[in-house]
Amino acid sequence: MKQPCVLVTGGAGYIGSHTTVELVAAGFDVVIADNLSNSELSAVDGVRRITGREIPFVELDCCDRAAMTRLFDQYDFDAVIHFAASKAVGESVREPLRYYRNNLTSFMNVVELMQATGRPNIVFSSSCTVYGEPDEQPVTERSPRKPATSPYGNTKQMCEDILLDTVAADKSLRGIALRYFNPIGAHPSGLIGELPRGVPQNLVPYITQTAAGIRECLAVFGDDYPTPDGSCIRDYIDVVDLARAHVAAIRRMIDGRCRERYEVFNIGTGRGVSVLELVRRFELVNGLKLNYRIAGRREGDIVAIWADPTRANEELGWHAERPLDETLASAWRWQRHLSGLD
Ligand code: UFG
Repeated sequence: MKQPCVLVTGGAGYIGSHTTVELVAAGFDVVIADNLSNSELSAVDGVRRITGREIPFVELDCCDRAAMTRLFDQYDFDAVIHFAASKAVGESVREPLRYYRNNLTSFMNVVELMQATGRPNIVFSSSCTVYGEPDEQPVTERSPRKPATSPYGNTKQMCEDILLDTVAADKSLRGIALRYFNPIGAHPSGLIGELPRGVPQNLVPYITQTAAGIRECLAVFGDDYPTPDGSCIRDYIDVVDLARAHVAAIRRMIDGRCRERYEVFNIGTGRGVSVLELVRRFELVNGLKLNYRIAGRREGDIVAIWADPTRANEELGWHAERPLDETLASAWRWQRHLSGLD
């Protein structure tokens, strides 16, 4: 019997590469499509080495309608996971049009081609950014979405809405939006992980680069927030756990177990961790001292957010499993690999 085939757009990226590994391990065929605008071919090599499979890779831009049409003609996809998008919050504020064009055009191309070729199942890569600064913790899927604070965040909300409206209008389509909290860590093999370009904008790659001596000092953005230690709180989700949530979502759709044709799930641990706690944990687990200083608040940061993952636990049968310490060890292992420190 033919194995189900999943198109992973953005499959050379951080979350896409880990998800591809988990899909293959779960018995799916995968085709990766990526324009390598914020990723490297080495990630595809890493995925092939981990899985031992010559996973097809197509270099294309999802905004290129003709190339996407050829891709959909060539392969018989049972489902699509759409990761391909620009994701830097600050950059999106400086270049809003580029973000709107890229993130919306690519997404609409995918959904339109799915409709045109009768492919019913899509998982969309959304974000807890849609909740803004929540009034209550932890956030559930019923917590209100707040006005987006960046064009990037706005594209996540808009794509969710586009999917909701399209699924409502087209009874043959099913969609799941996964709202990720803060993905961190790397594959236990040390062969794939996050590959930030230039100065990392996110906390964990900044920490690991500081520990490796690439950056001099981590700036902790604010210790005067109304939290127990004054630093911001997030829900850090291991990237392999996050990848497995996609497998669970795809299975749910392919097996016909969706309750609604459009569903939303929070993908987080349910535990809030402050920036200072994370720094201390990283030091302890990896047996090193990190050079850090307290700096001013970063504009646009929310104070605290963590997930109520009950719906994903119950409906997807998915749980965050990897302990934070292991995740932080994997992040450091990956950095050592990148920096040639082993
Ligand atoms: N932080 C620092 N120093 C740094 C980098 C980050 O103190 O050098 C702090 C931030 O102020 C924040 C926490 O670490 O309190 C996490 O910051 P990240 O940039 O790693 O993550 P964010 O929570 O700001 O952003 C993430 C994703 C976005 C997404 C957002 C939703 O990167 O794509 O969550 O809230 F939109």
